[in-house]
Amino acid sequence: MDIAVILAAGMGTRMKSSLIKVLHPILGKPMVQWSVDTAKQAGFSSVVVVGNQEEAVRAALSQSQVSFARQEIPKGTGHAVQCALSELKGLQAERVLVFFGDTPLFRAATLQELKTFHVSNGFDVTFVTAEIPTPGSYGRLIRDDQGRALKIVEAANATSEELAVCEINTGAAMFEMDWLAKHLPDFQTHPPKDEVYLTDALEIAAKSGKAGAMIISDPREADGVNTRVDLAKATNVLQARIVHDLMLQGVTFLAPDSVTVEPSVQISQDCVVDRGVVLRGNTVLEQNVCIEAYSILEDTLVGTGSTIKAQSHCVGALIGSEASVGPFARLREGTQIGNRAKVGNFVEMKKTSLGDGAKASHLTYLGDATIGANANIGAGTITCNYDGFNKHQTQIGEGAFIGSNTALVAPVTIGDGALIGAGSTITQNVDQNAIGVTRSQQQSIEGGASRFRKRAIGLKKST
Ligand code: UD1
Ligand code: CA
Repeated sequence: MDIAVILAAGMGTRMKSSLIKVLHPILGKPMVQWSVDTAKQAGFSSVVVVGNQEEAVRAALSQSQVSFARQEIPKGTGHAVQCALSELKGLQAERVLVFFGDTPLFRAATLQELKTFHVSNGFDVTFVTAEIPTPGSYGRLIRDDQGRALKIVEAANATSEELAVCEINTGAAMFEMDWLAKHLPDFQTHPPKDEVYLTDALEIAAKSGKAGAMIISDPREADGVNTRVDLAKATNVLQARIVHDLMLQGVTFLAPDSVTVEPSVQISQDCVVDRGVVLRGNTVLEQNVCIEAYSILEDTLVGTGSTIKAQSHCVGALIGSEASVGPFARLREGTQIGNRAKVGNFVEMKKTSLGDGAKASHLTYLGDATIGANANIGAGTITCNYDGFNKHQTQIGEGAFIGSNTALVAPVTIGDGALIGAGSTITQNVDQNAIGVTRSQQQSIEGGASRFRKRAIGLKKST
């Protein structure tokens, strides 16, 4: 079996955070999860080396079917892999891929290429390298005059000649397990911090002619995250890949650089996503859906042909087909919108289902309610679902018409086809096809306005 060892024990102090670096989220997913998922896509199951904030890292990866190794005190990359050796033996690893929990940009295809390169050359040790113009603090890959990989020198220990080399160690490497088990326990420590360097493997294996280095074509894949500036850059790269793939699958993005689309989101063909849209979690857009500018959707399903108009906020909602929601609508958890239904501006809904073809077009709160097909909810309708202690249900029948500015005091049931007069406060059930109305009698006082005006002007003059 091929196993990936993912190093995630270091704190990452340059993040200036109380949260360990590898748990900082990128597009809704902890950084280390990107490494785990990429390894899985490339066919490796993972052993994650944990140390700092161990419990939190274990918890974050609890759904990921990975195993863990402990490195209590971080004493270098070689030491980290030493700590994983017994776990690797237990898993009967044949080949071992090592890379970092803070390099989320590696592609699965690159890891597969590494394996092919390593196996076809019959190497014991293969490092992934990249050629970059400013090699800075990276370890340098030193080759002999025939181009064979000789050793990796850390920048801190390099001569000026070595520092001038622009081929750097990306940190990803592949090993034959038998070789690791035999040699790794004997690696020397290096001053000043007495660390064990995994990179020493190359020099040792090169002595028997079984070491190599594979240069990757896109060095940006190896970019590690050390600061929050790097975090933002990595987010941009990963976001651009997701949006690029979706565009090739038939999704239109009107302003592709402005959106947030998490990797778990599914979008079907012929959807249109406008500027500044945020799509999170398990959101699904079926075919021909349009999401207008600056809407935010989380864990929401939008059915075929529906439109979410600008500036709407939907969390945990199920929206049918050919429906229209927004602008400025707020759908909270447990909202269901029927086919061809309409939710207009400044409508808030929670744990409420709106039947097929029903409408709530303006300025309304609907909570803990079931609304039948083709009902019409007038502007300013409020379901008074909370009495200060408990929540209560409101039922509104098919084809019912709720006049504007109605308060429905739950629990209450409005029958099919019933009509509620505008401005009513409804506290009792209303039967099918009945009218429910609660209003005080309107008075009309002849000439009253004129008399009022005269009196008011007289009063003003006398002061
Ligand atoms: C390492 C390489 C260097 C390479 C660079 C690429 C070594 C000796 N050096 O240097 O050649 O160019 O990566 O980015 O391998 N970690 C642990 N436990 C430890 C030490 C590190 O889990 O004891 C983890 C860190 O959390 C981090 C990763 O390993 O995710 C890399 O460690 P880091 O100290 O950043 O290595 P570099 O000095 O950058
Ligand atoms: Ca580093």
